[in-house]
Amino acid sequence: MTDYKFSENLLNVRMSPIVSISEEVRKLAPEFKAKTGKDFVLFQRGEIDFPTPKYIVDAAKNALDKGLTKYPKSGGEDIFKEAIINKLQYFNNANGFDKDNIVCTYGGQESLELSFKLFEGKKGVGFAPCWSCVLENFVPYCGTDFHQVPLGEDFSIDFDLLDRALEGASFFYLNTPQNPTGKLFTKEEVSAIVDLCAKHGAFLISDEAYEAVVFDGEKHFSPTSLEYENIISTFTLSKTFSMTGWRLGYLVTRNKQIPQLLKLGNYTQTAGVTTFLQYAAAEALNNKDESKKALNAMVTEYEKRRDLFYEGLSSIDGLGVTKPKGGFYFFPDFSNFIPKNISGEERKLYIYKLLLNEGVASVYGSCFGNYFDDFIRFSFSTTPVENIKEGLERIKKICA
Ligand SMILES: Cc1ncc(COP(=O)(O)O)c(C=O)c1O
Repeated sequence: MTDYKFSENLLNVRMSPIVSISEEVRKLAPEFKAKTGKDFVLFQRGEIDFPTPKYIVDAAKNALDKGLTKYPKSGGEDIFKEAIINKLQYFNNANGFDKDNIVCTYGGQESLELSFKLFEGKKGVGFAPCWSCVLENFVPYCGTDFHQVPLGEDFSIDFDLLDRALEGASFFYLNTPQNPTGKLFTKEEVSAIVDLCAKHGAFLISDEAYEAVVFDGEKHFSPTSLEYENIISTFTLSKTFSMTGWRLGYLVTRNKQIPQLLKLGNYTQTAGVTTFLQYAAAEALNNKDESKKALNAMVTEYEKRRDLFYEGLSSIDGLGVTKPKGGFYFFPDFSNFIPKNISGEERKLYIYKLLLNEGVASVYGSCFGNYFDDFIRFSFSTTPVENIKEGLERIKKICA
């Protein structure tokens, strides 16, 4: 029985490298502390160090007190879907949606997995760098033939390359603001990508997990506001409302065939999202005043961290650093600090290991696709300013 052939797709799925990095750090931290008297600086995770706003927690408690603990409605409760329609209008400037355009899911992750599943075994395209979960999880799980189009310097788009890559593709995956670069795609860029998808008859899977974490007074542009029917936009409450553990998300599309199909996937996997949590989610989206207050406090703090981090990183001679416009990650280029004669696996881990030695946890660039091996991702979502300062001193040390 030991060589029984289980599902090949499932066997190909890998755990996020960030999990194994966190495990490695947990092992190394006591030794580092004993040697230096200091703690590790943790830049590896996309977790959030703010509590979920009280008005949302209270809404969940109220829903429980009211006994909203029965099986959920297939595809999502009306109250959550109505709140989503409201939010699409006031936040995304996206109109013309009704409940048949929406599926409520367990986080953005389930929305994405269901969307990728629509195109099982087909050709998909996305930019590199690309969120590691897409590469490690959705692509193998759905047997996707995934092609990566590298972003250029300053993470700009080569539209000719994209045009060629979309030949014969079923879908394009876009993540804006982007993990790991912090790139906020402009309205013009998003519209041009949608035009190319339309030219090639490809769907757009739009991952807008960080839509609310945007800096410098800029605004996220959602492709959902465009008229093209074949866009599936996936959203989550995780990052906007600091609700990573609640596992609440939703997907929206003008193509009404898709929610019908994805409702089946959603039902097959989980029979829907926990009923009382959907009531809390509705309150999160509908209570604009409270949500604005909570969000402003978070984004102001992230922006402070980003500015400090940027000042420190850009003072390092030879380090290629782009200032993130959204999300909470830096993705600098360390190629000037890696000896020319080092290649392959050793090169991929070279800077990551030097940083570990100095008590800094990060994520190495090869986790995000094919083209960015010399880059490192630093998250500032759980690191207060003091820790960032300490981390910067250590990063500077390895670049000296
Ligand atoms: C780019 C991106 N998309 C989607 C998600 C999904 O988040 P969740 O499943 O918590 O909603 C994440 C989470 O880290 C992310 O980084």
